[in-house]
Amino acid sequence: MAVMPVIKMDNPLLHRKAKKVSKIDDSIQKLIDDMVETMHDIEGVGLAAPQVGVPLQVVVIQLPDEEDVITLINPEIVKTSEESEMMTEGCLSLPGYRADVKRFTSVTVKARDRQGKLIRIKGDDFLAHVLQHEVDHINGIVYVDHLESMDKLEETEAEDEEEAGGI
Ligand code: NI
Repeated sequence: MAVMPVIKMDNPLLHRKAKKVSKIDDSIQKLIDDMVETMHDIEGVGLAAPQVGVPLQVVVIQLPDEEDVITLINPEIVKTSEESEMMTEGCLSLPGYRADVKRFTSVTVKARDRQGKLIRIKGDDFLAHVLQHEVDHINGIVYVDHLESMDKLEETEAEDEEEAGGI
């Protein structure tokens, strides 16, 4: 396993839709292992493959205090709540900044797990926000794209960043 460098906002790979995984082979298993190791190394909560320079639809998520990693291959949001709320978000690809983004309070995501099994995950609150942020990454969307203007972006202190959770 290896820690991979996380690319930054100016990299075009973050602004392009990632490709669907057609076959979950050894190279995908290795990518997932490396992404999990990278996420742990940077103490992140979620990571999408484009953030490590791989334009494929793979996401890993591990909520604080949860033992299990959620692996999502070709994830798609299939259901959302009617309600939404403002969430303060940062991104591992834009360290030092945060902004309030409107997100659904609950979403259901359809994906394949690393064994290739079709799964559906319903996330509420924080997990819902993380799922929306990561599925956005897969579609070439970053949270700043949701802002009316770049003036809404705030600079953060190191402590704030930990609070927001790296996604
Ligand atoms: Ni992000």
